Amino acid sequence: MSLILTEALTKTFNGTNAVDQIDLSIKEGVCTALLGPNGAGKTTTLNMLTGLMKKSSGNIIFDKRYSGDRRKYIGYLPQYPKFYSWMTGEEYVIYSGQLGGISKQEAIKKTDDLLAMVGLSDDKRKKIAGYSGGMKQRLGIAQALIHDPKLLILDEPVSALDPIGRREVLELMKTLKKKTSILFSTHVLHDAEEVCEDIFIIKKGKVVVEGNLGELQKKYQKPTIYIETEEPLESWSQSLKDIEWLRHIEADNTKLTITVENIDVAREYILNNTGLRNLNIKSFQVAKTTLEDLFMEVTK
Ligand SMILES: Nc1ncnc2c1ncn2[C@@H]1O[C@H](COP(=O)(O)OP(=O)(O)OP(=O)(O)O)[C@@H](O)[C@H]1O
Ligand SMILES: [Mg+2]
Repeated sequence: MSLILTEALTKTFNGTNAVDQIDLSIKEGVCTALLGPNGAGKTTTLNMLTGLMKKSSGNIIFDKRYSGDRRKYIGYLPQYPKFYSWMTGEEYVIYSGQLGGISKQEAIKKTDDLLAMVGLSDDKRKKIAGYSGGMKQRLGIAQALIHDPKLLILDEPVSALDPIGRREVLELMKTLKKKTSILFSTHVLHDAEEVCEDIFIIKKGKVVVEGNLGELQKKYQKPTIYIETEEPLESWSQSLKDIEWLRHIEADNTKLTITVENIDVAREYILNNTGLRNLNIKSFQVAKTTLEDLFMEVTK
């Protein structure tokens, strides 16, 4: 079941579509990543989903059970959160809860548990000014959870962090997704692969690849053969073009990269090919393309 569906969601700035007819389906109970390079339209999309920014056209449809003020159902951590560095972590979460419309008593009651969950119990009475980047992001996540949202939206929660902070926040997300649906943006496929079930890869405001991560990984994992010869192989490589097990071919002077359907059949054919042997094979290597290759290809 989809928690949020968008239909041809579009945002136009000065005549240019920063988000261009995007159809998303954010499912309940899973973690979804919005993946794309700088300027792809991730923040703009998230801002429209949270209601912080008006859409130019299209629709955003919430599950019927969550009608009314959508802020009640969404917890949000922006890409560049602003913290009052003179407050303590504890004061900040209580203050955020009150801003979000819950009473001070309730906010105080919840804050302890939330700060324990994000691993900040020992530092809750310290001023935010002394927090590391990872601690601030974890505080931001605690703040976003104070009103028990159905969906937690995190805009690039790990991009600005060092490897330790990154690890802390990714581990926290793995724990949180057991209870709350998560939608987060990133420009790093590896982050998505660590915590997500579903991904949408966007580029220039459009969805270019989408689906279940495991299925996509399987689909794009194809055997690849790299060949290098002493003599130029470009004209010989033309003879491969119509072979049915060939998926993709790239020849450059003495180097050839081919992606194939069945590695055994391809290896047998190539190593026994007299035309190729006559060019003096210098190297022959077998590897696998991955979703990362596809991601680099579609986003470059
Ligand atoms: N308020 C605005 N006014 C005009 N143009 C904007 C505005 N906000 C975003 N844009 C443009 O819309 C496009 C998408 O920006 P957006 O911030 O959504 O990308 P992003 O995927 O979040 O990038 P990043 O990875 O850098 O955070 C960019 O070309 C950006 O310059
Ligand atoms: Mg952004």
